[in-house]
Amino acid sequence: MRFLSQAEGRRRMSCAGLRMSSLMCMALSLAATITSALPQSYHASPKDGWLNLTVIHTNDVHSRVDPANDFGVSCSSQDIATGHCYGGTARHKTVIERLRGSNKHSLLLDGGDEFQGTLFYTYYKGNVTAEVMNELGYDLGTIGNHEWDNGPENLGRYWPKLKFPIVCANVDLEKYPELEKWVKPYHIFEDLGIAVIGYITNTTGDISNAGPNIAFTDPIPAVQKYVDELEAKGIKRIFGLSHNGYGPDMELAANTHGIDLIVGGHSHSYLGDPANPLYEGPYPTVIKNLKGENTLIVQAFCWGRYIGHLDVVFNPEGTIVSWEGAPILVENSIPADDRLLDRIDGWRKEFEEWGQTVLGVATDAFDQNSCKQRECTMGNLVADAMLEHARTPIYATAAIEEDAEDKGSVRPWTDLAFINSGGIRSGLPAGNVTIEMIMTTSPFGNGLVQTQMTGEEILSMLEAVSAGRYKKSQKQVTSNIQVSGLRYMFDSSRPLEEPHLIKAEVQGYDKEWREIKKRKLYWVVTLDFLLTGGDNILERKEGRREIKLGLLDSVLMDYIENRGRISPYLDGRIRNVASGTDEEDEWTGNNAKRFKIPPVWPVAAPEHLKTKYPGGVEEMLRDYIRLREARSEHRVPMKPMFEDLESKQEVWA
Ligand SMILES: *[C@@H]1O[C@H](CO)[C@@H](O)[C@H](O)[C@H]1NC(C)=O
Ligand SMILES: *[C@@H]1O[C@H](CO)[C@@H](O)[C@H](O)[C@H]1NC(C)=O
Ligand SMILES: *[C@@H]1O[C@H](CO)[C@@H](O)[C@H](O)[C@H]1NC(C)=O
Ligand SMILES: *[C@@H]1O[C@H](CO)[C@@H](O)[C@H](O)[C@H]1NC(C)=O
Repeated sequence: MRFLSQAEGRRRMSCAGLRMSSLMCMALSLAATITSALPQSYHASPKDGWLNLTVIHTNDVHSRVDPANDFGVSCSSQDIATGHCYGGTARHKTVIERLRGSNKHSLLLDGGDEFQGTLFYTYYKGNVTAEVMNELGYDLGTIGNHEWDNGPENLGRYWPKLKFPIVCANVDLEKYPELEKWVKPYHIFEDLGIAVIGYITNTTGDISNAGPNIAFTDPIPAVQKYVDELEAKGIKRIFGLSHNGYGPDMELAANTHGIDLIVGGHSHSYLGDPANPLYEGPYPTVIKNLKGENTLIVQAFCWGRYIGHLDVVFNPEGTIVSWEGAPILVENSIPADDRLLDRIDGWRKEFEEWGQTVLGVATDAFDQNSCKQRECTMGNLVADAMLEHARTPIYATAAIEEDAEDKGSVRPWTDLAFINSGGIRSGLPAGNVTIEMIMTTSPFGNGLVQTQMTGEEILSMLEAVSAGRYKKSQKQVTSNIQVSGLRYMFDSSRPLEEPHLIKAEVQGYDKEWREIKKRKLYWVVTLDFLLTGGDNILERKEGRREIKLGLLDSVLMDYIENRGRISPYLDGRIRNVASGTDEEDEWTGNNAKRFKIPPVWPVAAPEHLKTKYPGGVEEMLRDYIRLREARSEHRVPMKPMFEDLESKQEVWA
């Protein structure tokens, strides 16, 4: 078996790379040797004596049921041929069974975020994930922020399907009793004398779809409370199972005591070989806790590319005295488990049939070829869909229906949307639009994120996109953008050192265009990929407030399905005055023509609007303006909402 020898090659005493004296390292190796001299007590009762345990772990698999390439996307034949295809749950089964076979005592743990990232997930909403995890025989799991993607109700359908418990000590599910019964703070493996406490990042409320009725508290006091409770019960071997991220886990380890090992997730951290470009820290990372004892931390990247594997030896006092292990790269050469593969193929068949589902009709072809150079019809479709999704509060919090009055304040109004043209992979032919076509357009499993940017940041991004690079850092921008709710004008023929951007405006919900103000804060919606520095479109910035919305592919599907018919159009939102085709350097003339109010309702207009306003669009607009005026007389004046940062924050944030 090639993979076992590979794995063996990676195994080494983990002292290397740690801040630990070689003497201490020797002492640990010695402790490991002593262990084998005491097989008697080990065999007699793993609960009280020495215990050798194999910890097998995964995190952030993100529904990569099938193998994925370097970018986490389904492998092409070229990826496979060049050895850039990894993971896949049928291979996981092979690796896990091998590891289990090597030790009488093992635990298979998952650090959360099994959900989201592939259409397999979008289609099955966790059904397949549950089946696969049961088949792999997980002993325990915790909750990730993405487990909330389809709202709390979906977890009420998902958790009962699992054949293993879920632990999380710092989530308050009091308002969801039907969910609360599936989650406990910790689980005790009686036969091993081991307790595992689960916890999740306390930012989950801000970054997930859990909604306002579920609270996530600081994990540090929550975990310590349960450690104390377990120690009082006489349990000495205590693990954390975390979806809190590598950095915060180190902080938690240093600020608690009594935890022997943390199996982590959330930050997608590869710990292990320093020569690996993904390297973030040693495997395990050893932190001195509040009592000066060791707390070990492990994590295994994401997408199921690695299976975490740590062998630990407990002495009778419940202390880990030695360890050995490294994450195992799940290479393409590892044989897949046939039975599981057959089942996955069956699910895939059903899923592919779903791919032929017709979402709507394109009256004309949507062009993607020109997206890299200019405003394109496919770009407008995608950016419009993103903006509409972000502006529809129902998508943000599943719990919103319970508190309808609060709708406006649940999530801030979104000013504009932008996406890298490189994120739009194909156009659409005229005729039926199927789910498969959308999957081809948006194959990366990218999610939408709503976040805040200052006007200055937006202008500097538009300048960089127009000039092709950031002037200060000289970083090359590797894709242009497609936008909605925003229009800008630039001159690509100017010398590199000169400003290229001429003008940029955003459209308020009163439909008026206003110039972007440097000091104002804007809410934007874009892809998670861009916020982490993708295509160098944004300069990285710590501490942005980010609200995660849906996946781009499902957002597009919803948009087309809701409309039924879609038509390609350009409206001059991105104008390069150097290109010769656009001679005017003002929008007004063109827009007057473009925004001409149609005398009757367009065929594709929503039925409820046609019924409500038989007089057509003009009647609707008159009503809208009347409403606006009435509002400004009796209530908060509308204008300051756009012009004044303070009042905008108050109303929407
Ligand atoms: C326990 O683990 C240690 C260190 O890996 C090893 O030397 C010893 O043989 C193991 N004992 C048993 C009973 O497997
Ligand atoms: C998921 O499972 C539930 C039953 O547990 C079933 O009703 C539903 O149709 C399944 N969804 C899909 C897409 O298979
Ligand atoms: C979240 O947890 C961190 C420690 O992990 C703590 O520093 C911070 O204060 C907590 N924030 C909230 C709002 O509880
Ligand atoms: C388009 O889809 C509809 C069903 O939604 C189907 O009846 C029709 O035959 C399809 N047209 C073509 C050209 O495939």
